[in-house]
Formats: sequence, C-alpha cells, structure tokens
Amino acid sequence: MAEAGFVNLYHGGMRVTPVAVITGASSGIGAATAIALGRHGYRIVVGARRIERLERVAGEDGTALRLDVTDEQSVSDFVRQVGKRFGRIDVLVNNAGGALGLNPIADAVDDEWIGMWKTNVLGLMWMTRACLPLLRKTKLGHIVNIGSIAGFETYKGGAGYTAVKHAPRPGGD
Ligand SMILES: NC(=O)c1ccc[n+]([C@@H]2O[C@H](COP(=O)([O-])OP(=O)(O)OC[C@H]3O[C@@H](n4cnc5c(N)ncnc54)[C@H](OP(=O)(O)O)[C@@H]3O)[C@@H](O)[C@H]2O)c1
Repeated sequence: MAEAGFVNLYHGGMRVTPVAVITGASSGIGAATAIALGRHGYRIVVGARRIERLERVAGEDGTALRLDVTDEQSVSDFVRQVGKRFGRIDVLVNNAGGALGLNPIADAVDDEWIGMWKTNVLGLMWMTRACLPLLRKTKLGHIVNIGSIAGFETYKGGAGYTAVKHAPRPGGD
C-alpha cells in the first residue's frame, strides 16, 4: 500500500533516505501513519504481531517486522534488525496500544490493567530506550508518542486507560 519515491537528506556529506519506525502499524492510526509517511518519502519500518496485515501496510518498499512491545526480547530483536538493515532511525512513532475493558474499579480485571500498562507504558519505554542509539545517529531524530484525550480527561469505566495515557505525558527528557 505504501508507495515509493523516497526523499533524500544530506547528512555528513552523504545522501540518505530518512527511516521511520511505526509500532502497532497493522491497523488503525499506526497503519494510516505508516502509509502517510511512506507517501511523504520515508523508508518505513512497521512493527506489530499480525505479520500478514503488516506486510500489506508495508507494501513493496516498506519493511514489516514482527514486534510485540510487551516483550523486551521482541523489542530488542526488532531494533537490532532495523539497525542491521538501515543503521539509523529518523522518526519513531510509538503508537502500539489501546484500551481494554470498561469495568468500574470495584470490578477491575487485573489482566486488563496489566495488559494496558505493558503495551501503552512499558512498551513505549522499551521501544524508546532501544531505539535511542539509532535515533541519535541522525542528530535530528524525532519521537512521537500517540497519546489520547484520555490522557487529559476521565470517562466512566476508563480508570485503567486514563492512567496509562496519563503516564507517559511528563516523560519528555
Ligand atoms: N481509536 C481511538 O479513538 C484512539 C483515540 C486516541 C488515542 N488512540 C491511541 O492510538 C493508538 C492506536 O489506536 P487504534 O485506535 O489505531 O487501535 P487499533 O486499530 O486497535 O490498533 C492498535 C495497534 O496496536 C498494535 N498492538 C497492540 N498490542 C501490541 C503489542 N503488544 N505489540 C505490538 N503491537 C501491538 C496492534 O497490532 P497487532 O494486534 O497486530 O499486534 C494494532 O496494530 C493507541 O495507542 C491508542 O491508545 C486511539
């Protein structure tokens, strides 16, 4: 789906194509972001668990790699592959995440709260930490964390999701 026609940057006298890594790109906002960045000339690397869907998003010119952001080993394997193939990351979009459940706290389901924390918070930290050396290579690396209005406002049954979308907001250093 993503189309070629890469843009070029000049870095240290060398012509390079900027690389964008998008997590959770097998559907929704992540897939749309990857396709848009591909159309703007980025070399896209998309990660998620459903590899067939990812491959459709990556198209012929993008790269689809299996990624489970809740598994630190999977994160490390993914980033190692990106480093081996491209040697840099210009843009990291931490998009993988979402909401689970609508129960009030009285009926909160542990697995839902733990699952949301691992995907939306720990996964974001593991990805960012692992990608930083490749982002630093570009001198101008960008990190975009996909938040939510739930990071600013509450809603009925949304205690777990609002907590995990508030959590990464101050982490800008
Ligand atoms: N939809 C909204 O209204 C809305 C509003 C505000 C913010 N957001 C945020 O936007 C982001 C994307 O949401 P969406 O609505 O586009 O959701 P979506 O269509 O359900 O997509 C979620 C993506 O995250 C991936 N994902 C889930 N768990 C993962 C894991 N452990 N490792 C790797 N990838 C994982 C899924 O891929 P696999 O299942 O293939 O792994 C999928 O590609 C989320 O962070 C969400 O909190 C959404």
